[in-house]
Amino acid sequence: MDLELTDSQLRVRDLMRRFGVERLAQAGIETDRTHRFPAEIIKELGELGIMGIFVPETYGGAGMDHVSYALAIEEISVHCAATGVIVSAHSSLAVWPILGLGTEDQKRRFLPEMAAGRHIGCFALTEPQAGSDAAGQKTRAVRDGDSYVINGTKNFITNGPQASVAIVFAMTDPSAGHHGISAFIVDTRTPGWQVVRNEDKMGIHGAHSAQLSFSDMRLPADCLLTEEGQGFKVAMKTLDGGRIGIAAQAVGIARAALEESLKYASQRRAFGSTIGSFQAIQWKLADMAVEVDAARLLTLQAAALKDAGKVHTKQSAMAKLFAAETAMKAATEALQIHGGYGYTKEFKVERLFRDAKITEIYEGTSEIQRLVIAGQVLGR
Ligand code: CAA
Repeated sequence: MDLELTDSQLRVRDLMRRFGVERLAQAGIETDRTHRFPAEIIKELGELGIMGIFVPETYGGAGMDHVSYALAIEEISVHCAATGVIVSAHSSLAVWPILGLGTEDQKRRFLPEMAAGRHIGCFALTEPQAGSDAAGQKTRAVRDGDSYVINGTKNFITNGPQASVAIVFAMTDPSAGHHGISAFIVDTRTPGWQVVRNEDKMGIHGAHSAQLSFSDMRLPADCLLTEEGQGFKVAMKTLDGGRIGIAAQAVGIARAALEESLKYASQRRAFGSTIGSFQAIQWKLADMAVEVDAARLLTLQAAALKDAGKVHTKQSAMAKLFAAETAMKAATEALQIHGGYGYTKEFKVERLFRDAKITEIYEGTSEIQRLVIAGQVLGR
């Protein structure tokens, strides 16, 4: 087994490491403070090829792999977890289903602008009454001649307000349960698409999570992604990849917590020496270092399986579960190491603590990841 990164993967990581320090460190602070969507950063990431990193060059992408994608999301999220999820939701949840499951015509129509970052994507699955139970869709799509007419409401949709392209899930046959769900590629300029409101969240402030409403939104029938009734499988396959992006985001947050703690522990003095010389602090730092590495290895394993075209449901869920819990634990310990200062907005660990929490919730809560993993290890 080769655990070495290739030259091109190392180049992406180093490029994004530099971009992180030079562009994202300050922007991450501003984005958190102002709650503004980092449009200029996203434009620059588009120019660097990151918004279409795993899209083949034929469709305007950078033609790289998911390992490079995970490395890029980690580097971004060390400085700005909000930008990390903006890129991850766009790439894994909107670009990928078109690339992996769309027709040739759909790929040519949507991918070049998305890969360039000029069109942002979102994934509209969650509803007010359908979160963990994603099959409980109430949004309805009715076939009418050469069109589908969609009515319904979606909740917590990352990139909802900025999206030009959306992957929307709706019931075409409510009597068929999850076999009655279909997926659509929606141009958000379609009349009937409405952004109702942005949620006021605890963290990842620059990433906007919106409630959307569809009112008699009429789509041409060629917007159907795969076939009628296949939407639940589209969602599950897409989330298998999406969880790699969120795992990488969580690794970035955890690494930032460790880096901040190392810095603080070697500067802050108490009882006549730096606090890093005390075993109580050293044990925390050692555990954080082990867990960050383990979370990254799980994440890259899932990404490598995806690149090899192998089923990665279990490995993605494991990576997302472990990395999210690592991020929350590392952020909690980092705040503890910083003591009272960590509880103030002057120190980055306060933001990391708020940003870490969501990784245990979106793209499937930690409880849902455990269900997915249990199903896999039990062979169901
Ligand atoms: N790949 C392909 N097919 C899959 C699959 C996978 N990974 N997982 C399940 N399926 C198929 C099953 O084979 C089954 O097919 P058949 O009926 O044809 O045999 C069908 O899907 C139903 O499977 P289950 O019975 O396991 O489905 P379930 O209703 O029990 O739900 C669940 C399973 C794992 C709990 C699922 O509902 C789930 O993942 N919930 C969490 C939803 C989620 O992650 N939402 C995130 C929203 S997006 C987001 O958060 C973005 C953001 O903000 C950043």
